[in-house]
Amino acid sequence: MSRFVRDLTHDMPPCVIEKASSRALNTVMRLCILAALCASLSTATTEMFTFSVPKDPVSVRLGHVATMPCSLTPSMNAEGLEVRWYRPKHFDNPVLLYRERQIQEALQQAQYVGRASLGLREVTSDGLKGGDVTLKLVNVTLRDQGEYVCYVSSDQGYESASVFLNVTVVGTPPLLSAVRRDADSVNVSCVSHGWKPRPSLQWSDGRQTLKPERLDYSSGAQGLVSAHSWILSSPSSAPWVSCSLVLSEGEEWEGRVDLRNLAAVPETSSGLQTAVIILALLLVLFVVFIGVLYKKRGRESTPVPKGDIVDIETMRQAGVNVTLDPNTAPPYLTVSPNDRRH
Ligand SMILES: *[C@@H]1O[C@H](CO)[C@@H](O)[C@H](O)[C@H]1NC(C)=O
Ligand SMILES: *[C@@H]1O[C@H](CO)[C@@H](O)[C@H](O)[C@H]1NC(C)=O
Ligand SMILES: *[C@@H]1O[C@H](CO)[C@@H](O)[C@H](O)[C@H]1NC(C)=O
Repeated sequence: MSRFVRDLTHDMPPCVIEKASSRALNTVMRLCILAALCASLSTATTEMFTFSVPKDPVSVRLGHVATMPCSLTPSMNAEGLEVRWYRPKHFDNPVLLYRERQIQEALQQAQYVGRASLGLREVTSDGLKGGDVTLKLVNVTLRDQGEYVCYVSSDQGYESASVFLNVTVVGTPPLLSAVRRDADSVNVSCVSHGWKPRPSLQWSDGRQTLKPERLDYSSGAQGLVSAHSWILSSPSSAPWVSCSLVLSEGEEWEGRVDLRNLAAVPETSSGLQTAVIILALLLVLFVVFIGVLYKKRGRESTPVPKGDIVDIETMRQAGVNVTLDPNTAPPYLTVSPNDRRH
């Protein structure tokens, strides 16, 4: 709150004149009387007022309506006063100017055209009549963040005070992904972009908060913040985990990943593996069975049809004793001296 500054040029002349004449008369007594007179005069003609503005910045979500409170204390009718809201260094191109009992749009700063109006500090406020000169700004943009000066002037003087606007942005819903590392360990990661300011990120399994292995923030375009975190979790100790990002009450996101369902997915693949192994085993058994069958049939001495082209190697591998007569054997076969080969 700043002090009320009196408009000296407007108020003082009678006193100054009196002072001059008192100096001419040069009597201490007269000075004292005049001093008292001046003091009583000023309290009688000037309605002293100060401002009531919030000390903390006003927070508003991107695209929402900002209400920047400012009101005169003690409350007094401000309808006949000049109310000017401006950004520092833009006194002449204000955000909003109310003068001569109406809004003056001619000199308004371009980025606020159609978006600024006088609002109500509270629903019960009497507005200008009650000294409420609150600024209402709709469709808030990132550029709107910063300092706003609330300035009220009357014939007697002016008062000004600053209100700070903080624009917040709620980022994207968290994107969760889970990658199974081994039987009872899942790497769950959580990513979300476009926050302002930096959100807090918390992991939970529904019973307790979990400590992430890593939590990183990075700033991107227009100072918007991205968050990235991952955690190692075990499906046997918690059926699900959640990742929540919070700016404030109502400005938050939560994402959950069901670890049981996730566990079901690798199980089908391991089930498939088992099936493949079983199938492979069955195949091996089948081959062995066939081999044994061949061997048996070989021992029972299946006669090799003469003149037929037989894949001797296959038969030999199957355990069949192949006996060849060098005289009847096909000419492309060489028969070993003992006439047998295993
Ligand atoms: C505010 O935004 C809404 C929707 O985004 C739009 O329809 C409206 O015209 C905007 N108002 C102003 C004053 O810019
Ligand atoms: C307002 O914004 C500034 C800078 O962006 C930040 O440092 C500050 O913590 C914010 N204050 C609130 C109350 O959000
Ligand atoms: C978990 O996943 C993140 C990617 O989101 C990766 O950076 C990290 O190295 C992984 N950790 C382990 C132990 O696999």
